[in-house]
Amino acid sequence: MDQNSLNELDKIWQSLATAILVLDDSMTIRFANYSSSELLGLSTKRLCGMAMDSVFNHHQFDLERLAKYVLQDGVDCQQHRVDVVFVDNRVATLGLHARRLMLSGAAYILLECRRVDDALRYDQASNQMHQFQASRNLIRGLAHEVKNPLGGIRGAAQLLQYETDQQEREECAALIIEQADRLRELVDRLLGPNQLPQKEPCNIHQALESVIKLTTLERDAEIALIKDYDPSIPPIVIDQAKIQQVLLNIIRNAQQALQHDGTITITTRVKHRLHHAERLLKKALLIRISDNGPGIAEELKETLFFPMITNKEGGSGLGLSIAQTLIEQHQGFIEFDSWPGHTEFNIYLPFDNTETGNVQ
Ligand SMILES: Nc1ncnc2c1ncn2[C@@H]1O[C@H](COP(=O)(O)OP(=O)(O)OP(=O)(O)O)[C@@H](O)[C@H]1O
Ligand SMILES: [Mg+2]
Repeated sequence: MDQNSLNELDKIWQSLATAILVLDDSMTIRFANYSSSELLGLSTKRLCGMAMDSVFNHHQFDLERLAKYVLQDGVDCQQHRVDVVFVDNRVATLGLHARRLMLSGAAYILLECRRVDDALRYDQASNQMHQFQASRNLIRGLAHEVKNPLGGIRGAAQLLQYETDQQEREECAALIIEQADRLRELVDRLLGPNQLPQKEPCNIHQALESVIKLTTLERDAEIALIKDYDPSIPPIVIDQAKIQQVLLNIIRNAQQALQHDGTITITTRVKHRLHHAERLLKKALLIRISDNGPGIAEELKETLFFPMITNKEGGSGLGLSIAQTLIEQHQGFIEFDSWPGHTEFNIYLPFDNTETGNVQ
């Protein structure tokens, strides 16, 4: 590349909206673009030559980790929320991405910094709103579910007060017991699974086949079922009954969404190095259940895994909330993507629980 082109490239680099710093192995700044000067409140000239530590009054950068992972091992490092106080006492939350950069045979750290305060505030406000709506739905749903059996119990008790006929009294008592049991069952379902999983090595495809039998999908002429299995998947240590419960809940949802027409695809794969929240799954099983139905209603998406989120006549809205609890008990996670014409639920289960660790 000729000098002119290099100068042009330098302009692009300088005018990026992302703050870029290049650090050497002593954590001294060797290059800073205009955005980093704006962010840090110091000119690019002053920044070059300053120790990274001295451009903040306070910071939570893990400089040691950067030196070890990025410079020595050449592994990218990310920190999603780093609180900093600049030299002029402004406060900010930054998102960082660090990558090794080789220049003339020497290793440097290329550090990209973005302010994430606004996005975080927006997320917090929107989360609060959705949680408020979800808890209101939960209370409404609960009130509705509790009121019916309570009405029955009250009616039967009133009858009991004046009833002298022994058989009628027994019928009233039976009704009270039945409705009380209904309430207890509701509370149990709300509390979720209360037993620790009993894990054993399991063939996931056999487990899936038994679930498919339960759903009657194979006998359904209107819904096509595509099995896209990876036959080389090794046995996985799980509580088979619990994972089958999860699969059943999700496949039933897909079936209900399709009503009488469409395709459900079940995919299994092995995935490596998955990051989820603060967790790293080195090797995980992916089970994807997708359908080509109408998609998940927009207003449900933010709180889909909360209990009692439903738009079905007679639905309890507990299927996905229970599924999430069971997957959490396996140190896995569950995600979805949905738009009109496509919905997929992705379940990730670690192959070996000892392999989970912190994100690097
Ligand atoms: N594949 C899907 N396509 C479209 N919407 C879906 C799909 N899966 C779930 N949903 C939506 O998510 C909601 C919550 O599902 P969840 O399984 O938790 O409860 P439910 O099916 O309504 O009731 P329950 O499973 O307790 O009988 C559903 O009411 C539905 O609106
Ligand atoms: Mg359901």
